[in-house]
Amino acid sequence: MSIKITSLEESKRGSCPKEYGFGTVFSDHMFTQDYDQKQGWHDAEINPYHNLSLDPTAAVLHYGQEIFEGLKAYHRADGQINLFRPEANCERFNLSAKRMVMPAVDVNQHLEAMHKLINLDKNWVPKTANGSSLYIRPTMIATSSKIGLGAAAQYKHFILTMPAGPYFAGGFNPISVYIADTYRRAVVGGVGEAKTGGNYAASLFISEEVAKKGYTQVLWLDAIEGRYVEEVGAMNICFVYEGSRIVTPSLSGSILRGITRDSILKLAPTLGYDMTEEQLDIHQILSDIASGKITEVFGCGTAAVISPVGKLCLKGKVYEVNGNKSGPVSKHLYDQLTGIQYGTVEDAFGWTQLLKS
Ligand SMILES: Cc1ncc(COP(=O)(O)O)c(C=O)c1O
Repeated sequence: MSIKITSLEESKRGSCPKEYGFGTVFSDHMFTQDYDQKQGWHDAEINPYHNLSLDPTAAVLHYGQEIFEGLKAYHRADGQINLFRPEANCERFNLSAKRMVMPAVDVNQHLEAMHKLINLDKNWVPKTANGSSLYIRPTMIATSSKIGLGAAAQYKHFILTMPAGPYFAGGFNPISVYIADTYRRAVVGGVGEAKTGGNYAASLFISEEVAKKGYTQVLWLDAIEGRYVEEVGAMNICFVYEGSRIVTPSLSGSILRGITRDSILKLAPTLGYDMTEEQLDIHQILSDIASGKITEVFGCGTAAVISPVGKLCLKGKVYEVNGNKSGPVSKHLYDQLTGIQYGTVEDAFGWTQLLKS
């Protein structure tokens, strides 16, 4: 693919600021390309970060035909930059595209676009290995201007990057989780497996409600019986039995195929843990927490990597895990996975890709 690059003059370029948090400060450049049925993907460009211009009838604005992704680039101690599982991420982007009747992107071209974009904005990759990274947000939207429900004929694919601060700035502290007993995230046969904006919009109402009660995340149950554990907020979830056996819900069709989840499934057995995917009944889980058989609970996803859970609440009853403290298994997995990402632990799985210059 030939990408037309128009870069900011050196004197106008920024770099990673001291304070950035997450999602409010963006790197200097962005990638875009357009699709129509006649030309396929075309006009691949990297330009300075800019607003998009859309017709008010653009299909994405009315029918939500949209997908996105999230992955990270990490500064290694030797000065090089690692991308973590970018092919797996792009393959999931294409799975989402298929479900939302959108055109696939070519994996190699998508990766080339990311490498070129990050190379240009290398100065924006945070240099501290304390959990900081460059967050990469590939997105695709339906741009056809037509009011009338149907798959669009035109699309825009764009990639933004932004520095992301350490998730655990205040320490590896557990979060509190409210189990949604009436609201549901996704149903089998629906779009829960796709990373599409509507899933996230639909989660906001209950997330806002539980935040008022002091809970940071919502635990989602299956939509048919309201009984089986699915995910926690925008993370997959794992339960640790007696400090040695890890279980995570099996992919049901309504759970996002998390790349961190998949990495833990592969990594944990090499660290001596027994790891399985099972259908998990919330009542059994809560009873195993109450009896102390479950010694740790944690969410897993690109943002936090591992996020220990200290408290779960169902219909007002609170279940505390490990005295509301993070535990050794969560920390072990966090250290190993982040070690691979920052290049301080050997990557036996070939998950990291060095940024090409
Ligand atoms: C709903 C949902 N579940 C799980 C995850 C975790 O996926 P990953 O580990 O690929 O970030 C995410 C984040 O992408 C998500 O949005």
